[in-house]
This record gives sequence, structure tokens and C-alpha cells, in this order.
Amino acid sequence: MQELLTNLVEKYREYSVKGKVANYIPGLSLANPEDLGIVVCDKSGEIYSSGEADKLFTIQSISKIITLMLAILDNGEDYVFSKVGMEPTGDAFNSIQKLETCKSHRPYNPMINVGAIAVSSMIKGESPEDKFRRVLDFFKKISENPDLNYDSDIYLGEKMTGNRNRAMAYFMKNDGIIDGEVEEALDVYFKQCSIKVSALDLAKIGLFLANDGVISTGERVISINTAKIVKSLMITCGMYDGSGEFAVKVGIPSKSGVGGGILSVVPGKMGIGVYGPALDEKGNSVAGIALMEELSNELSLSIF
Ligand code: DON
Repeated sequence: MQELLTNLVEKYREYSVKGKVANYIPGLSLANPEDLGIVVCDKSGEIYSSGEADKLFTIQSISKIITLMLAILDNGEDYVFSKVGMEPTGDAFNSIQKLETCKSHRPYNPMINVGAIAVSSMIKGESPEDKFRRVLDFFKKISENPDLNYDSDIYLGEKMTGNRNRAMAYFMKNDGIIDGEVEEALDVYFKQCSIKVSALDLAKIGLFLANDGVISTGERVISINTAKIVKSLMITCGMYDGSGEFAVKVGIPSKSGVGGGILSVVPGKMGIGVYGPALDEKGNSVAGIALMEELSNELSLSIF
């Protein structure tokens, strides 16, 4: 495994020239496009890594699966899915168009921005700070990393430039999808996107899902059914409008973020974290996807 990862990082690092680092939030453009790292945490406790495996970057949209788990813990799945659907859109991650044209005015799924903001509005807490503290504590628990925190510059960048997200949130407030204060929901969402992680943190969370919601101490944190829901939504919607092709070519439930991360779950076997900040036009890591395709083929990891 170690040799395979080393070879894959060496081979795919140059793929970064095919993509571009996100720059719509000032802090994101500082990433080195040539970075590429991977970590595999397997069920027996072995950890393998290669490339920029310890480098910190912001989790961005990968946070959407974490707040989904916490929102289900807080409200139950029936409530959550009365407000957000389970269907892929085939549209870009920040698209707003289906929100108005579909009959229910309900976001299609929790993996696109509009659905994730609705999910963040359901996190319980006494105040916006308390809500985010609960999100961060949940992150720390399932990554088994007590040092996680958010990047305040990126957070402020999200807040400053997030007017499209703001528009979606106010639209949902108007239609009763968001019950509480819109700015509070957005604040949780912007902060959760700004949490700094490494590929190792992603691989640990991946392993937690591969183990159906149990951390290394043996503690069950979410139900088997919640783990099933999250993995299903990852395979159908986790790579946005690239999810179908990724399912065919890689076949592993995964979630990407514009920070360059990919979190992958091989059910019952391993968690994988990838970092490669040069993105394709859909917002997914170019080198990360290519590397995952070969890894999946080499080790026959497709779930199909
Ligand atoms: O909502 C946004 O603009 C971002 N902070 C999160 C987007 C993201 O990661 C989408 N991913 N590919």
C-alpha cells in the first residue's frame, strides 16, 4: 500500500496543471496548486500516507456531511428530510435555479450549498456561537482530533463574498424551509466551511463512516442508518455535477470541497483523505480524482 500511494502521488502531482486553485475567497487562492497528498486509514488501525498529508486546508463543502449527521442527531431524519430532499441535481454546487422551479421549493439535497445551509439552520444551540461550538466539538469527536479549529480569515472571506448563499438562505426563510434567523444559519455554514483539516483528518472521518458510525474507542456516535444515509448521499451527490462520472470511474462514496479535499469511504474497509487544491470546472480536485480512479482500480475498491 505504501509503495502504491508513493507512486500515485508522484504520477498525478503534475495533473494539477489541468486545474485552478479556487480564488473566489481571497484566502483560498494562497494554496500551492502543485500540492498533492493522500492518507489511508484502514480498519485494522494502519495509517499510510504520501505527499502533503499533514498540510492544513479548509474543509469547505466536505463539512456538509458532518453537519448533516449532527442535524439528524439533533432533529431526527424525518424532520431533516421534510425540509431537504435526497435527489441529485446535475447542477453546479452553488446553483439556485431548481429551488424556485421545483414545486416544493425544497432544496434537492444536503450536498449542494442551498441544502447545506438549510441543514446548518437545524443545528441546535443557545446562540450562534453555541451552535458552531457544537459543530466543532462533533468534528473533533469523529476525526479524533481535539486540535481542530477554523480559519478566521477564510471565515471572514466567506462572509464577505457569500451573497449568493445569502440570497438562497433568504429565499428559504421566505418559504419556511429555514425557521430561525437567516444570518445565524449562514454564520454556522461559513464557519463550518472554514474549519482547517489535513488529509489525515479526512481519512479518520472516512474510517468512522466506513465503520458505520463508530470511533476507535468503540463508541457509537451515529446510528447505522444515519451512516447509510450519509454514504448514499455521498455517492449520488457528493461530487456535485461530477457525481455520476465519479461513481462510474471510482465507485467510492466521496465528498469534495473547493479547498481541494476529498473524503472517501470504502464501506467496512477504510477511510481515505486526499488534498490537491487545483480544481476542475466543477470544483473538484483534478489530481485528486485522477489519483482516486487509479487507486480504486488497483485495489478493486468500487462498491459496485
Ligand atoms: O459556499 C461556499 O461558497 C463554500 N464556502 C463552500 C463551497 C464548496 O466547497 C463547494 N465545493 N466544491
